[in-house]
Amino acid sequence: MYRIAVIPGDGTGPEQIGEALKVLEAAGEKFNLSFETTHYDLGGERYLKTGELLPDSVFDELKECQAILLGAIGHPDVKPGILERGLLLRLRFELDLYINLRPVKLYPGVASPLKNKRPEDIDFVVVRENTEGLYTGAGGFFKKGSPDEVAIQESINTRRGVERCLRYAFDYCQGKRNRRQLTLCGKTNVLTYAFDLWERAFQEMSLDYPGVKTDYAHVDAICMWMIKNPEWFDVIVTDNMFGDIITDLGAMIQGGMGIAAGANLHPGKTSMFEPIGGSAPKYTGLNKINPLAAICASAMMLDYLGEEEAAQSVEAAVATVCHRHLAGLNAGEMGHTTAEVGDLVTRYL
Ligand code: IPM
Ligand code: MN
Repeated sequence: MYRIAVIPGDGTGPEQIGEALKVLEAAGEKFNLSFETTHYDLGGERYLKTGELLPDSVFDELKECQAILLGAIGHPDVKPGILERGLLLRLRFELDLYINLRPVKLYPGVASPLKNKRPEDIDFVVVRENTEGLYTGAGGFFKKGSPDEVAIQESINTRRGVERCLRYAFDYCQGKRNRRQLTLCGKTNVLTYAFDLWERAFQEMSLDYPGVKTDYAHVDAICMWMIKNPEWFDVIVTDNMFGDIITDLGAMIQGGMGIAAGANLHPGKTSMFEPIGGSAPKYTGLNKINPLAAICASAMMLDYLGEEEAAQSVEAAVATVCHRHLAGLNAGEMGHTTAEVGDLVTRYL
């Protein structure tokens, strides 16, 4: 019995999560697992009604669950930054979810915008540090609003934070991948403090992993090669900001936000799983949004819970649906409704 907190969230989040839960239920039946789910109405609507983002009592309940399944956060009537900082980033920081794991995988049948690239060419994983860097909120204004105004946004990189992220990436690369090639993505030519630390820690740690081939590339070059030669990559490890940016690029080359999922992890503790796209408010209630990203997020959750066979079955069912049934991945172009896509995955499962 697994205790799962469900935060459907804003916009199309609830529609996506509805299908993910449908698939989880089916996986539960097939593999004899049971899920005790509790829904939380966190998000833009609740904030607009009550001013609450993440009450402490709710946070305490979330901590008691093994996993959180999150739909999407983002509301057109809420100023940018409030929900992001008050909810999504607060969960990542306070649950200390120091890994953001984002697979970039082109499923058979899915059209990549990259000409001549096949599924075997686009299959890598980004390990994004998720609790430090430019995301801590460190910095501030001086003389705000005046012509002499100064804005400082600091990137915090601790030896401990960097090392635990690298450790996860090395272990993941060694344990879960066949090619066992780990690329550090940085900017050592300009960010000479932050990525100096990253690079030294990376090189030192590599001595513990003789079976992992290591490699370094600057973030701008990585953007170029992700387009030109995505087949070069197996696992990429990077800081929070660069990880944010390159995983949107990754989502595009794997066919779009409709299929891109991510896991926010603290191994051994409450972890959170989400489709990486936003709430897509203009599609709300139309039954047009692609639920596959949320379904893939639930597969990542199963894997995290130790139910690897169930996770693989869900992923295989997703791959089959992409291959046999979907015209496109984006909202409104699938050739099927949101609910039909969930039903198809369940059927193949
Ligand atoms: C993501 C998102 C978030 C981030 C935003 C919504 C704060 O873009 O999960 O990648 O920047 O991490
Ligand atoms: Mn992002």
